[in-house]
Amino acid sequence: MTVDGSAADSVRDVYERLTDLMARAMGGYLHGGYFGGPRPATTMAEAADRLTDLVVERCELRPGQRLLDVGCGNGKATLRAAAAHRVRASGITLSDYQVRLSRELAAQRGMADSVDFWVADMRDMPFPEALFDAALAIESVCHVPDRTAAYREIGRVLRPGGRVVVTDFVLRRPIEDPARKAVVQASNDNFENAPVLTREEYQQAVADAGLRVAEFTDIGDEVWPSFAAVADNMRRARDVVADRMSDAEFRDMVDSLERFGTVTEIGYAVVVARKPAQPRET
Ligand SMILES: C[S@@+](CC[C@H](N)C(=O)[O-])C[C@H]1O[C@@H](n2cnc3c(N)ncnc32)[C@H](O)[C@@H]1O
Repeated sequence: MTVDGSAADSVRDVYERLTDLMARAMGGYLHGGYFGGPRPATTMAEAADRLTDLVVERCELRPGQRLLDVGCGNGKATLRAAAAHRVRASGITLSDYQVRLSRELAAQRGMADSVDFWVADMRDMPFPEALFDAALAIESVCHVPDRTAAYREIGRVLRPGGRVVVTDFVLRRPIEDPARKAVVQASNDNFENAPVLTREEYQQAVADAGLRVAEFTDIGDEVWPSFAAVADNMRRARDVVADRMSDAEFRDMVDSLERFGTVTEIGYAVVVARKPAQPRET
């Protein structure tokens, strides 16, 4: 690994340890759910599918295209996108365990020929330039302190005119209360998340990577109910990490996750960025 190896190792360790627990608590994925819309989801699994679909539909995929899932977790979203839109999909993650799970899931679903999974860092990917028509990154870029580095490398592997759809946390306004600041810090520490940027800083980071922001929508109010649901589900699934975490460590992690969902100074952004069709396009 050529970039920031020790930070990447810490993120990988989180997922080697917590993937099973998170997937059990998050409707099979490792991300939050979308509880908005005219008929809001009634379960975490339904909400998590909806969040996946909300991202995938913004990729504007056509059959036969190539999709990259950046930080693919256990591959569930990758496979859902590939099946729904009949595209060829590649997924990358820092975790060997997640690559194994993703390949197993693909084989179980008879999709091994249309997807591939790799251990790789999103800041230095083993793909040639302009290979992909679109990319998605659900709650993965949030682990990279230098967002520009992540977006620049994603931009490199996108074809001109291709788009990337990302979900990431965003700072809506300063957090003044020290207790709420501490909640965010604890959650960032537990899950190795990088500091949250403001909307302006975020858009600048994407622009600095040579991409154009086509959409920046904060759906935080519709996603925050996930945190209480996930915390409840984790408490019920305590046995999954019985041999990996003490009771105190588990309680601290789950409590801080639940409280994170009450910090309304933080939003949840859906970011759509496009690679210019011409190098000099403005
Ligand atoms: C919260 S999980 C989300 C997984 C998946 N996108 C989902 O929604 O189910 C974060 C994922 O990002 C990956 N990730 C974090 N930092 C990464 C990096 N620098 N390069 C590649 N993957 C990374 C982790 O390995 C993990 O798979």
